[in-house]
Amino acid sequence: MKPIKVGLLGLGTVGTGVVRLVEGHQSDLESQVGSPIVIEKVLVQNVSKARSISIDSSKLTEDVWDIIHNPEIDVIVEVMGGIDLTRNYILEAISRGKHIVTANKDLMALHGPEILSKAQEHGCDVMYEASVAGGIPIIRTLVEGFSSDRITKIMGIVNGTTNYILTKMSQEGADYSDVLKEAQDLGYAESDPTSDVEGLDAARKMTILATLGFRANVALEDVDVKGISSISREDILYAKRLGYEVKLLGIAERQDDYISVTVQPTMVKHTHPIASVNGVFNAVYVYGEAVGETMFYGAGAGELPTATSVVADLVAVVKNLKLGVNGKQEKLAYKEKKLKTDEQ
Ligand code: NAP
Ligand code: HSE
Repeated sequence: MKPIKVGLLGLGTVGTGVVRLVEGHQSDLESQVGSPIVIEKVLVQNVSKARSISIDSSKLTEDVWDIIHNPEIDVIVEVMGGIDLTRNYILEAISRGKHIVTANKDLMALHGPEILSKAQEHGCDVMYEASVAGGIPIIRTLVEGFSSDRITKIMGIVNGTTNYILTKMSQEGADYSDVLKEAQDLGYAESDPTSDVEGLDAARKMTILATLGFRANVALEDVDVKGISSISREDILYAKRLGYEVKLLGIAERQDDYISVTVQPTMVKHTHPIASVNGVFNAVYVYGEAVGETMFYGAGAGELPTATSVVADLVAVVKNLKLGVNGKQEKLAYKEKKLKTDEQ
């Protein structure tokens, strides 16, 4: 069977996990899609850098066009991060008929509509499950699992780094900067962790969830954001004495003709299940008119949990390739006109 060839952009935390999963689960993946999946080329910034994974050095390149202009490559998996440069690479890849899997919420929150629309023009898939809540398959769930319902509210912890920090400050009285450094060392934080601690990463994820969940064009600038950088250990311990945990919550609500999306540190009563979501774990509550309350829980960041979502997308793209239906499934997203915001 002809192998499906993948170009991987990035071999950091997530890229390493993708290589491990594709290689480690090769026979399971092949039995699902009917072809071997081969990582053909890998883009890095520095081919000489020491890696935590052994990889054939002839696969590494510092030249993105080795991958994007390579006619043998069917799918691009983008796990390098960044916005403008990455947008250009992805648009060029789509114009050459490549399917895209990305974990990049910064890109999808800002340029998702443009990228998805270009992909439809060219009959390409763009999948981005790993962009929100790491290993929790929340995007597929919102788009497919709730297609029969009308979602009224999405609420949750969608940033692993800040939840890790808040948990360690609450449970161990740890120092904010020490725990942030730990989260960086564990590969949870963004390359610039300001976006984690100032709530921007969570805001980007809530933009994606609200857009898909409410089937509306919600923009990042519609989100009211406050991060955790000004929360002190004393604030957390004081809240604890009163029976609360401090959590960075994203809340997206739809009421009649307006949508509101916020990200802010929130005092959550100890007895609420979300107060027990600790460490790098994320939890997303989805409320539907018909289904009522549902909750999804799992690792929100880190090498293998995130790679699980990336590789699941890769499998979905390859299955679509076999069926000849690429570029069809994203049409639902961003369909309705933008609803009014900030009207209270
Ligand atoms: P990372 O560890 O910093 O890795 C980035 C990789 O991309 C590195 O291999 C780097 O090359 C390469 N790279 C970066 N800029 C490049 C450029 N301009 N040209 C060529 N190569 C470049 O990042 P990560 O944590 O894996 O995150 C990657 C993406 O996944 C980001 O969009 C992030 O938001 C998203 N994400 C991350 C997680 C997580 O838990 N970490 C979870 C969900 C989503 P070198 O190795 O040579 O430096
Ligand atoms: N920096 C992000 C987080 C990675 O901590 O949640 C997962 O998107």
